[in-house]
Amino acid sequence: MLQIRKLTEHIGAEIRGIDVRVRLPADTYQRLRMALCQHAVLVFRGQEITDPQQIQFSAGLGPLEMTIPSDPIGDGGPLGVISNVDKLGEIIPPNDVRSLYTKGNMLWHSDGSFKPIPLRASLLAAKAIPPAGGNTEFASLTASYETLSAPQQEQLQGLFAEHSLAHSRAQIAPNLMTESFLDDTPPVPQPMVRLIPETGRRALLVGSYATHIVGQPLHEGQTLLAELLAWVTRPEFVYSHRWQLNDLLVYDNRCCLHRGRDWDRANCKRILHRTTLAGDGPAPASNAPPHTP
Ligand code: SIN
Repeated sequence: MLQIRKLTEHIGAEIRGIDVRVRLPADTYQRLRMALCQHAVLVFRGQEITDPQQIQFSAGLGPLEMTIPSDPIGDGGPLGVISNVDKLGEIIPPNDVRSLYTKGNMLWHSDGSFKPIPLRASLLAAKAIPPAGGNTEFASLTASYETLSAPQQEQLQGLFAEHSLAHSRAQIAPNLMTESFLDDTPPVPQPMVRLIPETGRRALLVGSYATHIVGQPLHEGQTLLAELLAWVTRPEFVYSHRWQLNDLLVYDNRCCLHRGRDWDRANCKRILHRTTLAGDGPAPASNAPPHTP
C-alpha cells in the first residue's frame, strides 16, 4: 500500500509500498502526481530499474520531454546521463570539459527554466554513488515564497527575469557549450512568481539560469535575484538527499531548485540517469494578490 512520509517540514517525502518497475494503476499515478505538487521531491528507495522501466514509470507521471540533441548529457532521446564516467567505464578527469559542463549542476537551478516551456519535473535514478559526498540538495520555491513579507511579495508581482543556460555554464568556465547548443538555447523570459495550478500555491523562480530582471537596471535586478536565491536556499527550506544505490528521486521543477554537491570526482564514480517530464505551457505568472498566510 502506498505510504507517504514527510522528510522535512517544508520539502520532500519518502514514498513506500510501490514497485516502480510494474505498470501502476491510474489512481496511483494520480496520487503520486499530487504528492509531487505538495512535497516537491519524492524519494523511492531500493528501486533497481532498467532504463526502459524508468522511462515507463516517468511516462505514467506525465508526457516525457526528450533531451536536446546538442546537449552532451543526451542523444535526443528520453534519457540523459549525468556522470563522471566515459563510455568505456573510465573516470573522466575533473578538469576535462565534460566534467566542467556537468559542474553547472552544482549551481542552484530548476531544470529547463531556460526553455520557453520549462520542464515540469525530473527523475534521477542512482546507478553509481560515491562513498562520501555527492548529495543532491533541494530548496522549496513555495515555502520560501510564502514566508516573504507581503510587501516583498507585492514587489515581485508581474516581474520577469531572463533565463539562460549559457549564463549558468559561463559561471563555471568559458566555452563549455558548442555553437549548436547555444543556438538551441536562446535566453527566455520567465515570471519571477508562478502559480502552481494544482495546489493554488505560488512559487518563486530564481536560480543560476536567471541573468537579470527584465526592465530593471542590470545591477539592481541581479542584486534582487541574489537576495532571493539566498532566501530560498536557507537551511529550513532545504532537503539534502544522501544517495543510496538504486534510489529514484522525482522532483517538481516548478516547486523546487536543486543542486548537486561535490565529491572525490577524480577517484569515485557517480552516475545518475535522468528522465524529464514536459511542462504543459509557458509558466503561468501569478497575477493574483500576494499570498497571506
Ligand atoms: C541535475 O542537476 O540534473 C543533477 C543534479 C546532481 O548531479 O545531483
